[in-house]
Amino acid sequence: MAPARRRPRRTPAAAAAALLALLLACAAPPSAAQPAAAQPAAAAAAPPLRAAPAEAAPRAGGAAAGAARRRAAEEAPAGWRIARATYYGAPERIARAYDPTRGEGSFGILAYGSCGYTNGDGSLPFPRAAYAASADANPDYPGSCGRCYQIRCKPGLVLNNQGQPIKIINNTFEGDRFRPYLPAINPNVTDEEGRPWPGNTAEAAGEQNVVCWDPSKTLTVRIADSCPCTQVLPEGAPGVAKGGEARTQSWCCAGQQHFDIAYDAFQALASPVYGVMNLEYRPVDCDSGAPLPFEPGFVSKTIYSGGARPGWSWQTYRAKDFVFSTQSAKTPGGNAATCATLTPAGGLYFHCRECDRAGYRPFEGARAVAFWLRAGNAAAAGGDAANATAAAGANATAAGAAGNATALPLKLFVRGERDNYCGAEPRLPDLAPAEEAPGGWARFVVPLGAGGFDCFDLGNMTHLEWQSTAALGADGPGSEAPFCLGDVQILE
Ligand SMILES: *[C@@H]1O[C@H](CO)[C@@H](O)[C@H](O)[C@H]1NC(C)=O
Ligand SMILES: *[C@@H]1O[C@H](CO)[C@@H](O)[C@H](O)[C@H]1NC(C)=O
Ligand SMILES: *[C@@H]1O[C@H](CO)[C@@H](O)[C@H](O)[C@H]1NC(C)=O
Ligand SMILES: *[C@@H]1O[C@H](CO)[C@@H](O)[C@H](O)[C@H]1NC(C)=O
Ligand SMILES: *[C@@H]1O[C@H](CO)[C@@H](O)[C@H](O)[C@H]1NC(C)=O
Ligand SMILES: *[C@@H]1O[C@H](CO)[C@@H](O)[C@H](O)[C@H]1NC(C)=O
Repeated sequence: MAPARRRPRRTPAAAAAALLALLLACAAPPSAAQPAAAQPAAAAAAPPLRAAPAEAAPRAGGAAAGAARRRAAEEAPAGWRIARATYYGAPERIARAYDPTRGEGSFGILAYGSCGYTNGDGSLPFPRAAYAASADANPDYPGSCGRCYQIRCKPGLVLNNQGQPIKIINNTFEGDRFRPYLPAINPNVTDEEGRPWPGNTAEAAGEQNVVCWDPSKTLTVRIADSCPCTQVLPEGAPGVAKGGEARTQSWCCAGQQHFDIAYDAFQALASPVYGVMNLEYRPVDCDSGAPLPFEPGFVSKTIYSGGARPGWSWQTYRAKDFVFSTQSAKTPGGNAATCATLTPAGGLYFHCRECDRAGYRPFEGARAVAFWLRAGNAAAAGGDAANATAAAGANATAAGAAGNATALPLKLFVRGERDNYCGAEPRLPDLAPAEEAPGGWARFVVPLGAGGFDCFDLGNMTHLEWQSTAALGADGPGSEAPFCLGDVQILE
C-alpha cells in the first residue's frame, strides 16, 4: 500500500535551507524523484511534523472479543515481535492494476530513499528484496538506516494501530482514501510466480484475513528509507492540492510497529493483492543473522566498512560518479570503499538519524573518528587513479598511481539534527596522516575534542561529513575532489 517515501535533499548548514525544510519537508512523488546529486539543497533536517493520530477504529464485537483476538494476533514466539507490513517499489504490472484508482506512482520507488543507498547512476547496492522503510513512529526508528530485520508473514487478521482487527469501510481501511482495499479494485493480480490471490475469508465481516505463502519463510531486509506518519507533499506533485498538502500515512503513525517493505519481499511472503499483512520480526546482525536487542535499536561504532554499517545513512550532494561501495578501491584493511567526486561545495556524509535520543548518541564519550582516504575516484568514467588524480590537481607520479590525499580540497565536520555543530572543521591539507599505505591511502585519526573537531556537545552529534572547500561556481584544476573513503570508525 506503499506510503510514500521521504526524499530529503540535504544541504550542509544553511539556516535558510532549514527554514525551507520546515515548509517543504520530504517526499517528492516518484515521478519527480531525482538523484540528490542532480538536485542538492532544500529540504530535510526538520523534525517530522506530527499530525493528530488517526481516528480511532470502530470496535469489532465487544471489548472481550477484541481483547481475545488481539491476544491471538499478538502472540509471537520468544525473541520475535509482531509488526505489520505494506509495500513499495512495485513493478509496472502492479502499478497498472492499481494506480488508476490509487493515483499515479502510488507505490513509490526503492531508489533515493531517505538513507541514501543509491549509486550515482541510480543503481541499488543491495538486492531489491532487501529494501525496507521504517515508520518514523517506530520506537527503534532512531538509527534505523542500515539496520537489518528478519521478517516472516504471520497469518491471520491484520491489526490496526490500536491492536484491533482493522476494518474495511467503503473499500478502504478505516475509511481512509489513502489506504484502499486492493481486492476491491482488482482481485485477479498474481504474484511473480503466477500464484492467484488466496482470498479473504473475513471479508464478509469487514476484516482482512491473510493467508501466507509459507509462514516459516524468513527474509532479511535492511532499512533504507523511512515512512513518515505525516508526509508533506509539495504543490505540483501528481494529485496534490495547490499550496501543497500534509497527508497522514496512518499505517506509519505508531501503536503498531510498521515496515514498508520492498514489493519483492512482500510478494515472496504473501499475495500482493492483500497490500498489508502482519509480520513476525526481530532485529539481527546483517552479516551473521545473530539476533540483536529490540530497543534501543543497534547502532554500530563502525560507520562504514565495505558499506554503511547499521545506524548510518550514506548520502552525497553536489557530487558525481558516487558509489556506495566498490571492489575497485579497497582500503589497506581489504574492505571495499565508497568513492565520489565532490564538485564545489559538494559533500558526502553519514547520518545516524534522530540519534541524539537517549540510548543512541553514537559520539557520546568517544575520543576520535578514524578513516582511510585516498585521492582518485575509482568509480569515475574511465576511472584510472592517475587521471582522477590529475583532475584533483594533485601530482600523479606514474600511470596508475593515486594522488596525495592531503592535497584534496576537503574539510570535515560533525553536526547534530538541527543547526548544531562541533566547534571546528578540520581541513584535510592541515591534517597529518596517522599512517600511509600503498595506493595513496592515508589513515587519519581526528580527535573529537581539542585539536580536532572541538566538540562541546558530543552526545547530540549525529552526522560525520566531508565537504569540498572549493567555492560554489569554482572551475578548473583543483576545483573537484575525487576520492575514495573506507573503514570509518568512531574510536572510544
Ligand atoms: C462511504 O462513502 C460515502 C460516499 O463517499 C460517504 O457518504 C459515507 O459517509 C462513507 N461511509 C463511511 C462509513 O465512511
Ligand atoms: C477478475 O476476474 C473475474 C473472473 O474472471 C472477472 O469477472 C472480473 O471482471 C475481474 N476483475 C478485474 C478487475 O479484472
Ligand atoms: C581524464 O581527465 C580529464 C580532465 O579532467 C578529462 O577531460 C578526461 O575525460 C579524463 N579521461 C578519462 C578517460 O576519464
Ligand atoms: C609535479 O611535480 C613536479 C616535480 O615534482 C613539478 O615540477 C610540477 O610542477 C608538478 N606539477 C603540478 C601540476 O603540481
Ligand atoms: C601532499 O600535499 C600536501 C599539501 O598540499 C603537501 O604538504 C605534501 O608535501 C604533499 N606530499 C607529497 C608526497 O607530495
Ligand atoms: C542536547 O540537546 C538537547 C535538546 O535539544 C539539549 O537539551 C541538551 O542540552 C543538549 N546537550 C546535551 C549535552 O545533551
